[in-house]
Amino acid sequence: MNRNEIMQWLREVRHPAKGDRDIVELGMVENIEIKGESVEVILSFPKRRDPLTEYLVGSTRASIIRNAPGCKVEVKCVVKEEAKKKQNVNELGTEELAGVKHIIGVASGKGGVGKSTVAVNLAVALARLGYKVGLADADVYGPSVPVMTATNGIQPEAIEDEDGRQLILPIEKYGVKWMSIGYFADDGQALIWRGPMACNALKQMILQVRWGELDFLLIDMPPGTGDIHISLVGDIPMESAIIVTTPQAVALADVLKGVNMLRNERVQRRILGLVENMAWFTPAEHPQEKYYIFGKDGGLEMAKSIGLDLLAQIPLVQSLRECSDAGEPAALGSGPDAAAFLDLAGTIAKIA
Ligand SMILES: Nc1ncnc2c1ncn2[C@@H]1O[C@H](COP(=O)(O)OP(=O)(O)OP(=O)(O)O)[C@@H](O)[C@H]1O
Ligand SMILES: [Mg+2]
Repeated sequence: MNRNEIMQWLREVRHPAKGDRDIVELGMVENIEIKGESVEVILSFPKRRDPLTEYLVGSTRASIIRNAPGCKVEVKCVVKEEAKKKQNVNELGTEELAGVKHIIGVASGKGGVGKSTVAVNLAVALARLGYKVGLADADVYGPSVPVMTATNGIQPEAIEDEDGRQLILPIEKYGVKWMSIGYFADDGQALIWRGPMACNALKQMILQVRWGELDFLLIDMPPGTGDIHISLVGDIPMESAIIVTTPQAVALADVLKGVNMLRNERVQRRILGLVENMAWFTPAEHPQEKYYIFGKDGGLEMAKSIGLDLLAQIPLVQSLRECSDAGEPAALGSGPDAAAFLDLAGTIAKIA
């Protein structure tokens, strides 16, 4: 029996928490010493309290005895404290997003057009269609997801993963996994973030969350289109985006700002299309009626003029606002607004 042979046998010892990779591949075999008929193996662990220590020591011993019956085996462990890697936000990787199929940003050229309303209701609508959905509220300046889903006041749990990294568990409600910086601030407390802090908070809301398997991760993007914003958005790992607008002709300039931001060379994201919010007003007592108070087909004209698809028209209905304020997204219901969001969800699922 020689060192190479033993290395070969140790390749049969797999680490169940590391995607079943073996301990040789994982670099855990620190040393092998052969003295006649006895072998001493030293395994290195990245942290002190690895719950799998006993298991791996036992498997290592068993693997050698299986291949060399009668051999005396001693397995020792050492701890190599490099576990705190990746705690620094700047070093956060995208591994937590590995199970996410599509990451889609919800953007707008200016504030107050209903970006968060569309993001939250689209998430709920996609979940109603049977997709696994998460939503990251990346609006670090004014998070609205906690209120819109009545999850404010809930403190997300933090866990430690196999590598000793802190991860946040999203809050699950209405079939969607939600995450927002708002969960970490007291109710009503103003959030004032300077550039780098905003960027770190934003990255954490997306990269330091245990999303698990998702079909769609929506990102309610921070408002604005300036330089700071472009660099923020450039750092968010998302593949595409939708732009929310209202139908007025004057909104075109803002939509163009949003488009330019997404097409900026630092960002360069695919734009799936435009969502026209508040396309018409429908009174609760006359659900068939449409009042085009901001003008008719503004969104369609806008989409045509900039060569984007119009993905949906969402009506202005009082109950949509009331549902948002009450934390029960309208997309859970059966009104004309819910129908519009379900339509949009179907379209997104097709083109994403
Ligand atoms: N289609 C609609 N019908 C009725 N009310 C709406 C509709 N869309 C949005 N609202 C209401 O308009 C207000 C602004 O919407 P929302 O917060 O979604 O906008 P936003 O673009 O995310 O704003 P911000 O830029 O501040 O993040 C909210 O009170 C919301 O309930
Ligand atoms: Mg918002």
